[in-house]
Amino acid sequence: MAKYRIAWLPGDGIGVEVLEAAKVVLDRLALDADYLPGDIGWEFWCTEGDAFPERTVDLLKRVDAAVFGAITSKPAKDAEAALVPELKGRGLLYRSPIVRMRQLFDLYVCLRPIKAYPGNPLNYRDGLDLVVFRENTEDLYAGVEFSPVPRELADTLGKLAKGFGPFAKLSPDEYAISCKINTKRGSERIVRAAFEFARRHGRRKVTVVHKANVVRATDGLFLETAKQVAKLYPDIAVDDANVDAMTMWLLKNPFNYDVLVAPNLYGDIVSDLCAQMVGGLGFGCSGNIGDKLAVFEPTHGSAPKHAGLYKANPIATILAVKMMLDWLGETGKAQALEQAVAAVIKDGSVRTYDMGGSSTTLEMAGAIAARL
Ligand SMILES: NC(=O)c1ccc[n+]([C@@H]2O[C@H](COP(=O)([O-])OP(=O)(O)OC[C@H]3O[C@@H](n4cnc5c(N)ncnc54)[C@H](O)[C@@H]3O)[C@@H](O)[C@H]2O)c1
Repeated sequence: MAKYRIAWLPGDGIGVEVLEAAKVVLDRLALDADYLPGDIGWEFWCTEGDAFPERTVDLLKRVDAAVFGAITSKPAKDAEAALVPELKGRGLLYRSPIVRMRQLFDLYVCLRPIKAYPGNPLNYRDGLDLVVFRENTEDLYAGVEFSPVPRELADTLGKLAKGFGPFAKLSPDEYAISCKINTKRGSERIVRAAFEFARRHGRRKVTVVHKANVVRATDGLFLETAKQVAKLYPDIAVDDANVDAMTMWLLKNPFNYDVLVAPNLYGDIVSDLCAQMVGGLGFGCSGNIGDKLAVFEPTHGSAPKHAGLYKANPIATILAVKMMLDWLGETGKAQALEQAVAAVIKDGSVRTYDMGGSSTTLEMAGAIAARL
């Protein structure tokens, strides 16, 4: 039996191609692992009414880690229209499989390293090396949403919340409500994870991202909890910033930052901005990490317009594999893989279209594998 069991979830569109590329480098590294394919994505929504079938949930209960490509998601009406005729009209609701996976397996840390590799023509500034910790299970992604808004809820809000006044007169289908739910426990454990990482990796500062001056209840709780956690790490500096100002400061003075920690939605936005500073979606990688399971993925989606063309940049996925190797404790292989990626970027003769070249997904993977 192999040392590791790894769920292999290509999903849709370019997800399939970038995972094929990731397999090229993993084979070259000779990781002692069984790769267990899992069904996930749009096809399974259309034919079974579930983009994340129960058998894939079961598979994830039996593995050490997973690599996930990308899935296609569509708004509710389009999703209903795409169902096979026998599933239409049954009230099936499409929910993003990756959001569900994060909640089902309590993958509460979303870790997104942001590194400018020397020689990458897409670097906004050379030398950038940030890490984003995004809370991954609650906040506006809690999945508590109403459209149309039930009268019962409107009546209760009318009684409890002064600010609800202007909305109370609207009919149920004239507005919608998405609940932002943040817990003390959820806030504490993501901030703790950020500080622990900072301590372990010799990072100097953690910046807490929020909007507590306006979103007082939830972001206030996040910020206050973060301040309490920070007291346990006197060796690491801490500061905080409103998310809107943060996006501006990140572009103006990116070297003022080191480790960032944020609730779910702000973390998603800030990490995309950061990814763009080091090459964009072809370079953005992500680990969804819980206490028992971790799922590694590129941050990009299925890019339907490029699907089947083998032109997507696989570096994001290969760096996600590097994160997985670290998580499994295979630090030697992780380091070797990162060095190989860095060497190919620096050399510059193999570049995918986003880097200004014409190499294919598998040529990039081959070039990285050849350096191993
Ligand atoms: N985690 C996920 O699976 C995930 C994330 C984002 C979007 N999506 C879904 O993916 C579908 C397409 O969404 P989208 O077009 O907004 O975002 P996307 O990330 O799929 O692609 C946007 C654009 O970015 C570029 N790009 C993305 N990945 C690239 C790569 N590896 N190399 C080079 N260029 C790359 C392409 O130009 C592409 O058209 C939607 O259905 C969306 O819901 C899924």
